[in-house]
Amino acid sequence: TTEPQTILTERRDRVGLITLNRPKALNALNTELMTEVVAAVKEFDADAGIGAIVLTGSQKAFAAGADIKEMSSKTYAEVVGESFFGAWDELSRSRTPIIAAVTGYALGGGCELAMLCDTIIAGENAVFGQPEINLGVIPGIGGSQRLTRAVGKAKAMDMVLTGRQMKVDEAERMGLVSRVVPTDKALDTALEVATTIATKSAIATALAKDAVNRAFESSLTEGVRAERALFYSTFATDDQTEGMAAFVEKREPRFTHR
Ligand code: CAA
Repeated sequence: TTEPQTILTERRDRVGLITLNRPKALNALNTELMTEVVAAVKEFDADAGIGAIVLTGSQKAFAAGADIKEMSSKTYAEVVGESFFGAWDELSRSRTPIIAAVTGYALGGGCELAMLCDTIIAGENAVFGQPEINLGVIPGIGGSQRLTRAVGKAKAMDMVLTGRQMKVDEAERMGLVSRVVPTDKALDTALEVATTIATKSAIATALAKDAVNRAFESSLTEGVRAERALFYSTFATDDQTEGMAAFVEKREPRFTHR
């Protein structure tokens, strides 16, 4: 396999780190970068030695959107024919939790990529937005759907129709991000969160992630039913036996599946 050109990957113990690395284009998401991020996530997800993934960019930009220069001359036939952006959907199939560490611009596809992750840790300088409307287009990597589910209709309409930027305090208030930390601590914090997750039973974290995602994809009744079935299924794992025995015996659990 050839080395990726637009990202850096690294393993830090049980955490897989993916850093977007097109600094001159503010990490604009071109097709090459999409292919490389998807491949890196798949590789970490398939690796039993990895319990969580962190996705980050640079201090100035997590990602300033889809690559406008690559996109500008495409025709309708081309975007339809190649399922343009379609590969990004594969990130939501990762069973391994993915944490976005966002500093600087997360605009357009950058905001959508952060929302494709399971949770977002933001630095104080983070800026979110869906400015596609200014280019005569609309979000195309799930932004109109995930932003609406994350912050509600009024805010999502405001963001998507005006293209304005949202600073980090507003993003935190709206529940778009889980934590705000000093800009130079965002990556470390995300790595700490990922390290914590990676100490758990990987079966349990995959089921927990699946259960939370049901809240986005089904009615409350169906979601609660799905959660119950997933919960019952944890009783088929030795990690349930071990986790509960460790509590009763007042010791740390030694999970098999991690
Ligand atoms: N695509 C391609 N190149 C981009 C880019 C993008 N989305 N964003 C920035 N760049 C490039 C710039 O063209 C510039 O390159 P050159 O040096 O070759 O001119 C370089 O990155 C640095 O950018 P700026 O000089 O503009 O930096 P700035 O600090 O003055 O401004 C910014 C930063 C406000 C983020 C500004 O770059 C900007 O507005 N970028 C575009 C944001 C945007 O519209 N994103 C949405 C894209 S559409 C989309 O994402 C569709 C979708 O739904 C998936």
